[in-house]
Amino acid sequence: MNAVRAALLGMIAMGCCVSAWGQQEKMLAKTPPMGWNSWNKYACNVTEEVIRQEADALVASGMRDAGYEYVLIDDCWQASRDKDGFIVADPKTFPSGIKALADYVHSKGMKFGVYSDAGSKTCAGRPGSLGHEYQDAQKYAEWGADYLKYDWCNTTTQDAKASYTLMRDALRATGRPIVFSLCDWGTAKPWLWAGEVGQLWRTNGDLLDKWEGTVEWGGMGLVNNLDKQVGLESYGGPGHWNDPDMLQVGVGGMTTTEYRSQFSLWAILAAPLIAGNDVAKMSPEIAAILLNREVIAVDQDALGRQGRRIRKVGELEVWSRELGDGSRAVVLFNRSAGAQKIAVKWTEIGYPAKLVAAVRDLWEKKELGKFSGEFEAEVGSHGVVMVTVRP
Ligand code: GLA
Repeated sequence: MNAVRAALLGMIAMGCCVSAWGQQEKMLAKTPPMGWNSWNKYACNVTEEVIRQEADALVASGMRDAGYEYVLIDDCWQASRDKDGFIVADPKTFPSGIKALADYVHSKGMKFGVYSDAGSKTCAGRPGSLGHEYQDAQKYAEWGADYLKYDWCNTTTQDAKASYTLMRDALRATGRPIVFSLCDWGTAKPWLWAGEVGQLWRTNGDLLDKWEGTVEWGGMGLVNNLDKQVGLESYGGPGHWNDPDMLQVGVGGMTTTEYRSQFSLWAILAAPLIAGNDVAKMSPEIAAILLNREVIAVDQDALGRQGRRIRKVGELEVWSRELGDGSRAVVLFNRSAGAQKIAVKWTEIGYPAKLVAAVRDLWEKKELGKFSGEFEAEVGSHGVVMVTVRP
């Protein structure tokens, strides 16, 4: 009798804790995750030295203190599996092992993350987690990982929801809070189901470091990527975010103006802000983008309501996001080849036509004055004007 009672009490206790844990998991990303990831700049040339240097640079540049919290190794850190099936880091590029690297990142006051893939191999052909999900999750937790990005190459006939849920359960079983970043490129419409699986999910193929265009394997330029985000705005929110891919800011293929546009639009989209440039060597212009605290504050707004495109006329667009204090962030975006005037009307952003509101320019960092009914500005080619509108 006592044994039955104990078993029942145990089950009740487990039920209580699994659901409490589910709540905690959501709290892992109350606002969109911010950090740095090795892929956009280093791809498969990543080493432990690179990660240490970039971690140092995140501290020295002030990026850590501005909110860039996670230091993430992407693909190519894995080499093989040992005789028991545990994953082994590449001994040439990560000779000290992943635990030592995680310790280093933690000692700098940041969090640490790794990458794997739901299939047999990663996109770069390293060992994937298929069939080793629990073993891998256990290792990540032992090493002190705080974040896992989980890719979707070489998955043949696997079901995305089942595969991602399996790894979620494996991570959960470790008892360590680990942010789970799904990367199926939007293939299985994760916005419809992934809110219960991870804290963020990619909505599209890789963002390339260029203004526009698409490539056959699914990569795309900034404006093509942006068009993919339209219509997904209702699915993001505190604890579960749409991820239009990482920042290309400062990687080198776009202009400073175009990078400022990406950063502004990502803030409107409540997108994760995962930098990918060489932070140690960034120019003052790039630092001024990544460290603009007013734009970061829009991205990290506690209400967590993703913004949306409210108007597109030809190549001129208006994007807006509602903020927790009742104000709006607005981006006037000019895709065209020359400077253009773009206006936003108060009625388009949910305010009465006659309202008088204070407008602040977040890149000029100055109050522009009080405006009635609308605000208009000249916007440079491929650029933005980003303001807040405060009643
Ligand atoms: C995929 C992902 C990228 C990156 C690479 C690594 O393409 O979408 O973000 O992780 O794999 O191989």
